[in-house]
Amino acid sequence: MISRRGFLALLLASGCGVEVSGERLTSGLPLPPKFARPLTLPKTARPTSPGRYVVTQRPARMEIIPGTTTEIWGYDGTFPGPTFDLRRGEQAVVTIRNDLTVPTSTHLHGGVTPADSDGHPMDLVVGTVRPHHAGATLHERTKDYVYPLDQRAATLWYHDHRMDFTGPQVYKGLAGFFLIRDDEEEKLGLPSGDRELPLMICDRSFEPDGSFRYPALDPTLLLRHGVRPEFMEGVVGEVVLVNGVPWPHHEVEAVRYRLRLLNASNARRYRLALRPGGAFTQIGSDQGLLERPLTRDTITIAPGERYDVIVDFARYPVGSHVTLTDLLSGDVMRFTVTRRGRDDSRVPARLTNPQPVDNPVARRTFDFRVRDGVWAINGSPYLPGRSVAAPRLGTTEIWRFVSDFHHPVHVHLGRFRVLGREEQGWKDTVDVRPYETVEVAVRFDGYRGRYMLHCHNLEHEDMAMMTDFDVV
Ligand code: C2O
Ligand code: CU
Ligand code: CU
Repeated sequence: MISRRGFLALLLASGCGVEVSGERLTSGLPLPPKFARPLTLPKTARPTSPGRYVVTQRPARMEIIPGTTTEIWGYDGTFPGPTFDLRRGEQAVVTIRNDLTVPTSTHLHGGVTPADSDGHPMDLVVGTVRPHHAGATLHERTKDYVYPLDQRAATLWYHDHRMDFTGPQVYKGLAGFFLIRDDEEEKLGLPSGDRELPLMICDRSFEPDGSFRYPALDPTLLLRHGVRPEFMEGVVGEVVLVNGVPWPHHEVEAVRYRLRLLNASNARRYRLALRPGGAFTQIGSDQGLLERPLTRDTITIAPGERYDVIVDFARYPVGSHVTLTDLLSGDVMRFTVTRRGRDDSRVPARLTNPQPVDNPVARRTFDFRVRDGVWAINGSPYLPGRSVAAPRLGTTEIWRFVSDFHHPVHVHLGRFRVLGREEQGWKDTVDVRPYETVEVAVRFDGYRGRYMLHCHNLEHEDMAMMTDFDVV
């Protein structure tokens, strides 16, 4: 651990306060060409019997950089993992089997999930090796996660949440989409089928042999956690992957498409725009539909956030390239408009009924700030088992987030409205900017029990910027 002064100096030297949200990690091989490979879509998870799924976490090799293979750790050996495509109110029981060396915990991000299936970092499924995790609950090789899915249609995702090692384990590939649909959304007539694209955006760097490069202090991820000190702000990779493909291209018809954008990066934020121009029509946020569509020229998306947007490719001539670009650091992917098409989709002016925010019954402040060389909340690094708040089930509270850096703050179970900023709709993750104060009205529905609040910059999370709370 470096000294607090050394760490603050690093923060300042790296341009804290501008747009930087981590430290760039260079690759040991030439970067692949842009827009050379087609976008792929993760396969859809298939039940073994109605409502039952079995997923095995295992290593696999995939060709990410042409001419080399990369060992990934994936759900069913795939990166991204299989997409769960499920309906509101139809419970799913997912058996996770861990064939990796390391322990895992699978969290459904954005899920209204009973606490014992929420994927708490200390609720671990042991793999083939048994490293020490003081105080953790251990499951032998498998665990059944119960997802009642009694919540609005939304783009959720699932990912690893192991205590102290979430960053490297997600980086190795342990993440996938989890879509919930409902009648309300289906009635709208939004673009669907192959005109609905889940896009998991994340960044990676590579070793000369094609393996993922990550600055872990212990590459086995069995003993010592943490990253080299210069990466404490977060790891920013050089290659942008969409659904595991570097800077892919995708052919579209000149019609409306629905893009479910997910930033699954460890630390990097993106400011997405379309080149040569054009706007996104935002229809949904982390927790589902907005009341009405919103036109946005750019979308700033922080780790953990989702934006559900419509892009109308009819406004571009057939033959044109439309690049999804990142104004902060480069390109993401490219669409090619190949032909005219018939478009029966609609984007109604009213998407969902207004959902007023209840009167808050309490106010709490959470200060996300470095303290004694670690990332802390209210001056304290994560202490498993210590709960700092006890909101009542079925109530709304005002939570105030204060920060010293970019901290994408995420609340488990609760869903919130951001007060006094441009974000619309219900969210579960908010990008708190350096020296900013953000207030959210957070509602706790679903289940009593132990949940957590943390920074979704995964290096910050692993370096203690988490806290438990109890819904009572
Ligand atoms: Cu997506 Cu607790 O995290
Ligand atoms: Cu979560
Ligand atoms: Cu943070």
